[in-house]
Amino acid sequence: MKKLAFFDSGLGGLTVLHEALKQMPQEQYIYFADSDHAPYGTKSSAAIKALVFDVVDFLVQQDIKALVLACNTATSVVIKDLRQQYSIPIIGMEPAIKPAMELPSNKKTLVCATEKTLAENKLQLLIENLNATDKVERLSLQKLVSFAENFEFEGLKVHTYLSQSFSPINWVEFDSIVLGCTHFVYFKPLIKQLIPPHIHILDGNKGTIKHLQDRISLNTNGETFPIEFFSSKKPMPATHFAPCFTLLNQ
Ligand code: DGL
Repeated sequence: MKKLAFFDSGLGGLTVLHEALKQMPQEQYIYFADSDHAPYGTKSSAAIKALVFDVVDFLVQQDIKALVLACNTATSVVIKDLRQQYSIPIIGMEPAIKPAMELPSNKKTLVCATEKTLAENKLQLLIENLNATDKVERLSLQKLVSFAENFEFEGLKVHTYLSQSFSPINWVEFDSIVLGCTHFVYFKPLIKQLIPPHIHILDGNKGTIKHLQDRISLNTNGETFPIEFFSSKKPMPATHFAPCFTLLNQ
């Protein structure tokens, strides 16, 4: 039986893996956190490409049937090159702007992502293809990546950072916020407290797992397996990641 690999610059991709575990508990999972090199969002495209290829070279040797690049930033920069290089299905992340545009209230959406994702052409093309240029505002919440890597999912520092970042936003013009970075999903409860109740909070995790399911043959023999964790910051046992799952299970 072949495995499914999930890869992110650090802990963010666990939010996507968590969704996969809910929907496909009988698969065998590998998770790679490139925590020694997080954050990716402040690095150059060349640096991100080199890091991602190093990890994917390792992952494809682990008998995997598909790879989920559970990182919007890496997807923006390198997914095309990866698909040219490797023959297994490679599923990337896409900010959930399409579902935001389908909301009946027809107001603007605030796309929050890393500096790199916001600067990349891939996002611009997505917005243009959806004819959403006038309906999308962009906001970098890059610092949330470092907060998450330090397991600081709440508290005064994070609260202050988020409320200052949101202070210029005139929420009456908006109906949604898109979390375009997998690390940001941990902060959903806090974000909810800081924005008006009419704002929908959207992320791309469910959509990504749906794409994955369409591309693989599922394991049907009823077994479950422990997740194998790898990290560039060694050693990182499974217990290191436990607080993330605890938070996501709440
Ligand atoms: N989880 C990555 C993403 O979805 C975080 C990027 C970073 O490491 O800055 O974009």
